Amino acid sequence: MNTLFNPLTIGSVTFQNRVWVSPMCQYSAVDGLVGQWHSAHLNAFATGAPGLIMVEATGVVPEGRISIACPTINDDKHAGAFKPMIDFAHSHNVKMGIQLAHAGRKGSTMRPWDDHRMASAEEGGWQSVSSSAIAFHGYPEPRALTVDEIHQLTHDFAAAAKRAVDVGFDVIEIHAAHGYLLHQFYSPLANTRTDEYGGSFENRVRFLLETAMAVRAAIPASTPLFVRISATDWVDDGWNLVDSIELCTQLKALGVDLIDVSTGGNVHNAPIKATPGFQVPFAAAIRAEVKIMTGAVGLITEPEQAQYIIETGEADAVFLARAMIRNPRWALNAAEKLGVKIEWPHQLERGQTL
Ligand SMILES: Cc1cc2nc3c(=O)[nH]c(=O)nc-3n(C[C@H](O)[C@H](O)[C@H](O)COP(=O)(O)O)c2cc1C
Repeated sequence: MNTLFNPLTIGSVTFQNRVWVSPMCQYSAVDGLVGQWHSAHLNAFATGAPGLIMVEATGVVPEGRISIACPTINDDKHAGAFKPMIDFAHSHNVKMGIQLAHAGRKGSTMRPWDDHRMASAEEGGWQSVSSSAIAFHGYPEPRALTVDEIHQLTHDFAAAAKRAVDVGFDVIEIHAAHGYLLHQFYSPLANTRTDEYGGSFENRVRFLLETAMAVRAAIPASTPLFVRISATDWVDDGWNLVDSIELCTQLKALGVDLIDVSTGGNVHNAPIKATPGFQVPFAAAIRAEVKIMTGAVGLITEPEQAQYIIETGEADAVFLARAMIRNPRWALNAAEKLGVKIEWPHQLERGQTL
């Protein structure tokens, strides 16, 4: 039986435990470059002994960002900006992953705390793109990508992944959830294309499968490759768990190691009842049916709850976001609460409960 503080090995990477930091946009990059805020944000987690820190949605191209203040990894300069944080995490035996993303029709925004949503061209905004020219609620109409552009983006994901591995990231995650570009292709609610990238299930998942294949080929076979999906759109005529199981079966065959199982984000006001652990059953079903490793995420806040998810085999790891914001040392505290002895950074040892 696995436990929360058992190590987990995937490929050449051993995570010291299964408490992982979920990716969290910080809207604090300048011209796509991470800087001091990101150091503070990510280094704080690194002193709290998680197994993995997953860096926020990072644009594979500048126009793939969500906001004008999201990071990119479209060249070596932008990749290099992550290096001090990666080195710091490694010095504490914490692994670092990066979530490679394209926001599609949900891109070109200001920061959430600005007084308007969309960025104008003068503010650094751009024309958004998607599978089809269908706007997400409250956003402008995107332009449908051409087939050549889809192929170019697949290449951009792969090039970004290689750059990320070269700068020291241990894990690559493809962001295919939350209503962003890849989700806009596989969900029938966003994609009305009539070419080989739209229509049937097989056509709608093609962009994601081609991207996973290209990324897998661009990085060492031993580097863990994760995909975050939205396992359901939460509406009757949308993407659902049965679709997700078939998609994950195909992703597994392409060498994807772990599915990071989230939900939603593609339908405005979808009826989501966000209760503790509400997405865990999706991670459990995919793990059981596809026999692939999964990460569970969503309102996992208590040590006993996280431990239960791992012990009962619902998932191989848990991703925490908001609980980590509240307490970046969540893993240290959880180990104490569960009576598990783990190493604290020497500088923090005097904070242990006696
Ligand atoms: C501030 C913030 C930023 C987020 N940014 C991302 C992101 O970049 N990529 C992503 O896949 N999810 C993002 N999420 C979603 C979280 O990773 C997580 O899936 C969600 O918050 C549910 O987990 P929680 O209940 O532990 O917070 C973000 C969440 C928060 C609170």
